Amino acid sequence: MIKFTLCAVSALLCAGTALADQTLLSGGDVIDVERGVTLESQDILIEDGRITAIGSTGSLGPAADATIIDMRGATLLPGLSDSHVHLTGRSDVHGYRRLTVSTPRAAISGVANARKTLMAGFTTVRNLGAPGFADVDLMTAIEEGEVPGPRIIPAGRSIGITGGHCDNNLLPFEYHQTAGGVANGPWGVRQKVRENKKYGAQVIKFCGTGGVLSKGTSIGAQQFSLEEMTAIVDEAHLLGLKVAVHAHGTDGINTALEAGVDSVEHASMISDEGIAAAKAQGTYLSMDVYVSDFILSEGEAAGILPESLDKERQVGQVQRERFRAAVEAGVDMAFGTDAGVYSHGLNGRQFAYMVEWGMTPMQAIQASTIHNATLFGLQSEIGSIKVGKAADIIAVSGNPLSDIRELEDVDFVMKGGAVFVNTLGE
Ligand code: ARG
Repeated sequence: MIKFTLCAVSALLCAGTALADQTLLSGGDVIDVERGVTLESQDILIEDGRITAIGSTGSLGPAADATIIDMRGATLLPGLSDSHVHLTGRSDVHGYRRLTVSTPRAAISGVANARKTLMAGFTTVRNLGAPGFADVDLMTAIEEGEVPGPRIIPAGRSIGITGGHCDNNLLPFEYHQTAGGVANGPWGVRQKVRENKKYGAQVIKFCGTGGVLSKGTSIGAQQFSLEEMTAIVDEAHLLGLKVAVHAHGTDGINTALEAGVDSVEHASMISDEGIAAAKAQGTYLSMDVYVSDFILSEGEAAGILPESLDKERQVGQVQRERFRAAVEAGVDMAFGTDAGVYSHGLNGRQFAYMVEWGMTPMQAIQASTIHNATLFGLQSEIGSIKVGKAADIIAVSGNPLSDIRELEDVDFVMKGGAVFVNTLGE
């Protein structure tokens, strides 16, 4: 019996359609991201949310009551992932507007944005910074099946120096405003790492240079000394957590690499020396090469400060050139977008930019699947369509290897064996 499962994208809330004991995704072409090849006309058997068998069409013999989903003509890929999002952030609320947003209000945005992200084919995200621990609670609500969304690796509060990027510098002294992740000195930052772990962080994010969207910080300026960065990385690694550093400027990137971070976010002004160090150490670069277009075209209307627009003009194109250099050097590249600065659900727009700036479509897909999974330490669980892994599978009606922009409009989304989107054949 053939059953079609449809969870319309317009449905207000979609918890995913649970299927029979066995589901067969039948007849699609499957991208094997580990070997970098496409296998034509495959069947994939799914039981209890996991992939239990893969074989050429007709070879598997599913149970008589299995749900069979016709995938003929479609290309299947592992669920996409994004190594840098802010689910609680909104693209139309920047600059001083952010001061009006409470943590509960941000959490409500997070619910809406998690759903958009999943519907766009992103089944796992690393949330690199949220007010309070809203991302931890969002993760829990999704895991408990209360709201739909991707798997989340939450960072909780981003750790930063007083007055730097990751502090809140918008108000004058008499308001005594300090962001929750601010800490100084080796023991101060160790304590902050421990607190983040205590309240549910699964990755540590810290700010190693100034930023574009913060007031009064310089993108070239290093934040934290080598001693402090080493303390953050050491403490996080003792607790079994990986470390992601926000860093645009060359010195901050070099110092963070020396301290042993696991990924450099943005990496805009990475030097040849930094590229060589990242390659030698196996440090991932998570370079958000799309977001500049949003900031410069729509940022002003969204409330982004004039000084931030100036900083973006200094950094946007340079970052793309350094992305190309890193790809050519063969550094491990993650797929991270900074969605939240721009609209959630548009994460897939970055693929075309990665291809324009030096990657093959296969490399861009590998970045968002198997490479991100490895960066997250989840490569035995997600990141490829493989027997034993979670059934996080997406599909598009065309071939993303010939037109990467297919990934901007995903037609089928399965997470953990439940179907959230299926518009194939419409
Ligand atoms: N959150 C980042 C910052 O404020 C955004 C940087 C965006 N620009 C870029 N070219 N990647 O620094």
